[in-house]
Amino acid sequence: MATKTFKLNTGQDIPAIGLGTWQSEPGKVRTAVAEALKAGYRLIDCAYCYGNEEEVGQGLADAFAEGVVKREDVFVVSKVWATYTTRCELGLQKSLKSLGLDYVDLFLVHWPLLMNPEGNDDRFPKLPNGERDIIRSHNHVDTWKQMEKLLATGKTKAIGVSNYSKRYLEQLLPHATVVPAVNQIENHPALPQQEIVDLCKEKGIHIMAYSPLGSTGGPLFTAEPVVKVAEKHGVKPSAVLLSYHLPRGSTVLAKSVTPERIRENLNLIELDAEDMKLLNDYSDKLTKEGKLQRFVYPPFGVDFGFPDKS
Ligand SMILES: NC(=O)c1ccc[n+]([C@@H]2O[C@H](COP(=O)([O-])OP(=O)(O)OC[C@H]3O[C@@H](n4cnc5c(N)ncnc54)[C@H](OP(=O)(O)O)[C@@H]3O)[C@@H](O)[C@H]2O)c1
Repeated sequence: MATKTFKLNTGQDIPAIGLGTWQSEPGKVRTAVAEALKAGYRLIDCAYCYGNEEEVGQGLADAFAEGVVKREDVFVVSKVWATYTTRCELGLQKSLKSLGLDYVDLFLVHWPLLMNPEGNDDRFPKLPNGERDIIRSHNHVDTWKQMEKLLATGKTKAIGVSNYSKRYLEQLLPHATVVPAVNQIENHPALPQQEIVDLCKEKGIHIMAYSPLGSTGGPLFTAEPVVKVAEKHGVKPSAVLLSYHLPRGSTVLAKSVTPERIRENLNLIELDAEDMKLLNDYSDKLTKEGKLQRFVYPPFGVDFGFPDKS
């Protein structure tokens, strides 16, 4: 199952599971990336904002040098950070330099906003009052126009978005010459974001599901239906949460810096219709009760159009 792939609208194959690197600490992420590639991962999800692309690049270089895998067999993703959304090529160039690569396979708009490129910090500029320094007049469609130009440079094989709600996609798509290959969003049974998943499916945009375990510490491991399905199959809740995305047709990103967990997370299982009904009923119940759980929502103070946050 770990070798399963999906087709992007570019014709590229994208693996069904990838290693996440957000909050992967220095001193650990190099080994994590190399171990993951040894274990069979073929997708590494990175971002300029994570501040660790140099070390991720060292992990990739280790695996290439040891002959574990060739560059062309790994699907590398990076993202343009919000202080670079008027300077996408520079953002990409900086990521490539850190990663030690000539190209990435997919480059995403990390969040649809602009933070002051001339602010008091490269990644998280703040105003004197402590609020985030955001340029509110910026139109995210202008960022996409820049992203489209990157394809001709050969520095990325595909372009896509991240954290795009249905509302934002509907603003973007009428102006897009290139339909995003991917929308990377938080996705799990406690935040199914079905309206986005359905729209993306209709438009040929592949979903990459992030924070599938509920992010740091895996808070979804104890969710009752997840435990129930795990017991039925004799697997850990983590396996259920990761496998949930296969029948949904999405790629899932699992972050770990723990070699044993990195390996075990590759053991995806086939959930049957009964399992998916249990998990979907749980999603419906949380939706009706207004108890959906969004674990990743940086305090930008911007309405991105997500129904649970608008
Ligand atoms: N586009 C975006 O805005 C965005 C936002 C968030 C995330 N992402 C991407 O998606 C990736 C995954 O999301 P995430 O990092 O938020 O969280 P996640 O993958 O849902 O959860 C990671 C947490 O679960 C732990 N864990 C992993 N496997 C485990 C297992 N088998 N058993 C027990 N604990 C386990 C990890 O601990 P250890 O590491 O200590 O093992 C870590 O604390 C990110 O790393 C990033 O690449 C993208």
